[in-house]
Amino acid sequence: MARLLGIDIGTSGCKVILIDEAGTILRQASAEYPISVPQAGWTEQNPQDWWTGVESCLAEINEPAPDAIGVTGQMHGSVFLDAQGEVVRPALLWNDQRTVLECEQIEQTVGSERLKELTCNPALTGFQLPKLLWLRNNEPQNFAQVRQVLLPKDYIRFKLTGAYATEVSDASGTGIFDVKNRTWSEPVALALGISLDLFPQVFESDQITAPTTQQPSLNAGIPVVGGGGDQAAAAVGTGAVEPGIISVSLGTSGVVFTSIPSNEHDPSGAAHTFCHANRGWHAMGVMLSCGGALRWYRDTLGGGRTYDQIAASAASATTDSGMTFLPYLTGERCPHIDPAARAGFAGFGLESTQADFDRAVFEGLSFGLLGAFNLLKGLGATATEIRVTSGGSKSDFWVQMLADCFGAPCVRLSVDEGPAMGAAILAGVGIGIWPNVETACKAVVKVAGSIAPGDTDYSASFDRYSSLYPALKAWNRA
Ligand code: XUL
Repeated sequence: MARLLGIDIGTSGCKVILIDEAGTILRQASAEYPISVPQAGWTEQNPQDWWTGVESCLAEINEPAPDAIGVTGQMHGSVFLDAQGEVVRPALLWNDQRTVLECEQIEQTVGSERLKELTCNPALTGFQLPKLLWLRNNEPQNFAQVRQVLLPKDYIRFKLTGAYATEVSDASGTGIFDVKNRTWSEPVALALGISLDLFPQVFESDQITAPTTQQPSLNAGIPVVGGGGDQAAAAVGTGAVEPGIISVSLGTSGVVFTSIPSNEHDPSGAAHTFCHANRGWHAMGVMLSCGGALRWYRDTLGGGRTYDQIAASAASATTDSGMTFLPYLTGERCPHIDPAARAGFAGFGLESTQADFDRAVFEGLSFGLLGAFNLLKGLGATATEIRVTSGGSKSDFWVQMLADCFGAPCVRLSVDEGPAMGAAILAGVGIGIWPNVETACKAVVKVAGSIAPGDTDYSASFDRYSSLYPALKAWNRA
């Protein structure tokens, strides 16, 4: 049986897993690293910390000769390297918000509609290209040294293999990638005076990019496949690789993800169209505060109760209390691109109980995900089954609410290992264990039980929720 290694460079730490062809986890290790916030809205990490974390995980896993390796990680970040492959300055991360002016510069120079035609997406502060322009505008001495810009997981590939390479799913989130044609966008580069020599060679996610060089805990010559951005790799790990299967991740952020039949883009730009790791395309909506909003509620207004106690209380209330919760605690990305959006409770009175507040929170989070899914439907998405993952999926109450809202059965996975699992599966496809990603997912991903939609009707509550954001938009800005 082949042994496949998946490496995930997360935001709070890295994780490495070793699986066999049946998807059984043989070993796993993780390590944490710090995140620095030099100014409000800025987030940075030292790429060397990622590599130190990976090296310690590899030593712990103690498997010097896996058959293949797949890499995944936080998307959109920028690792700036000089001519010797040394890091020029700390990497700017996916949630760094310093590039508002550079996004305007890109939209004005390229043209908003043309940019969406060329890259399928608008310029967003988190994306990589605005970070490169920020460096040119603000740290010209550093910019002058830069010879290569890599995404976080591709820096780890470089340390493992010495090769500068990326793959289509992560490249899609740079802002300078022609998602339809799966290649760097020359027109965008030309318009902004950026050389495409700065960007690595692009592969498909299941293609071998380069072999390892000799490492302290790994032999030389092990094939490293493209892998994927964390969302595409996680989708491979949940089997969301064919139309009809929607993956909903209930982490700090909430993500609704699906394969789409074509490479159309959302005219509003709030849902992303990216290349998928299965050689097709996917669409996703990223809601910034999902499980993060629930954690905030538990810690501030929860009265010392646990998540389970809050959910049990919410279950004792009904959806027709008239209360609404807007979950925009950190602004929003989908279905509204609005960093200025704010959270709120509305519609309560003397009759309202704590249980009504509890229920309003769960409903607000579910409605946010439903709003994102409605945008994906405009791109041809259908839901025959929702695969619910990450921390929030442990709540039966919440998963039932999602089944009711989406009108489709919700299932959980028997192994929920996130992006590292998808990276390991892609490694297996790369060396021919499976002929393609779909076959691999059928062999490896196992679902555990299904929750069918019940008869609670949320349509009036969802309409009330949907009309509140537009009513408060101007007020929030003022
Ligand atoms: C995806 C996104 C996050 C980051 C960090 O668009 O912003 O998933 O990749 O996890």
